[in-house]
Amino acid sequence: TKKVILDIDTGIDDALAILYLLKHPNVEVKGLTTGFGNVDVDQATLNTLQIAELAGASQVPVYAGAAKPLLREWTGPVVHVHGENGIGNVSLPLPKEKAREERASDFIVRAANEEPGEISLIFVGRLTNLAEALAKDPALPQKVKEVVIMGGAVTVPGNVTPVSEANIAGDPEAASFVFEAGFPLTMVGLDVTMQTQMTAEDVEWMVSQKDDTNEALIDAIAEMLRFRIAAYKKMHGINGSPLHDPLAVAVALHPDIVKTEPMNVVIETKGELSSGATIADLRGRDTVIPNANVCVDVDADRFMGGFLQIITGKKRE
Ligand code: BDR
Ligand code: CA
Repeated sequence: TKKVILDIDTGIDDALAILYLLKHPNVEVKGLTTGFGNVDVDQATLNTLQIAELAGASQVPVYAGAAKPLLREWTGPVVHVHGENGIGNVSLPLPKEKAREERASDFIVRAANEEPGEISLIFVGRLTNLAEALAKDPALPQKVKEVVIMGGAVTVPGNVTPVSEANIAGDPEAASFVFEAGFPLTMVGLDVTMQTQMTAEDVEWMVSQKDDTNEALIDAIAEMLRFRIAAYKKMHGINGSPLHDPLAVAVALHPDIVKTEPMNVVIETKGELSSGATIADLRGRDTVIPNANVCVDVDADRFMGGFLQIITGKKRE
């Protein structure tokens, strides 16, 4: 059993990552931590509580964290990709549970100290809560089992700028602290997440698998995905929606679905055009010291099959 903390800025693919994690066997979810990003932190927290309840996992504690980047102002919600409420304007029942009092970064530090070497941290939003936790406990990199992040782009273009990806560009200083800290770090960037796209046909297959046990869940997911697929069609002219955040969860739970390469990755924090870029030294010099395992290829079919099976409880032939 893997012990996991998932940090999210609950937009649509974050919601899918939460559902996939909570429904996955052999995982103990220690907590869900939230931050600003796709939506503001209060909305991210509300969405997270609602999604946990939708998964039948309202007992999993939720901890709210950062409301803005470490040193910058937040640029506001990403409404065109995630909808007004972050989850594709799907309306879910008000949650029965509330977020815990403890701040996200305090919880992360406490969990890592209570079970040293045991906890996998999965970050699929800005890295602000992790940078904050690191400031509170500089020995954190030696106390966690691993950190898997969705973020960055090494061999492919960015998504918020030609060279930078949203989670890194959303708080480059936080990302820089994390990449420099010596964590056992796996980077699940656009290099691989753009390869795992869910299509309208995948959604229709999910809908065809509805039964009394999974109906509410599949209805909500299908509505979110339809919104997202339409958004990607409009923005990028593609017929699918990349499942960025669920892929990071999948990599943490099934590392063999990706191919990784050790690289030295630095985060651009100063550049006028390139702020938030993940610059990997690909020159092949033996003086370069790797600080991250960067995912460079993915078995997309295996990922999608596994994802659909966990969500619906049925296997697609
Ligand atoms: C990342 O940005 C957010 O919009 C998604 O939730 C994902 O974490 C992709 O760049
Ligand atoms: Ca996210």
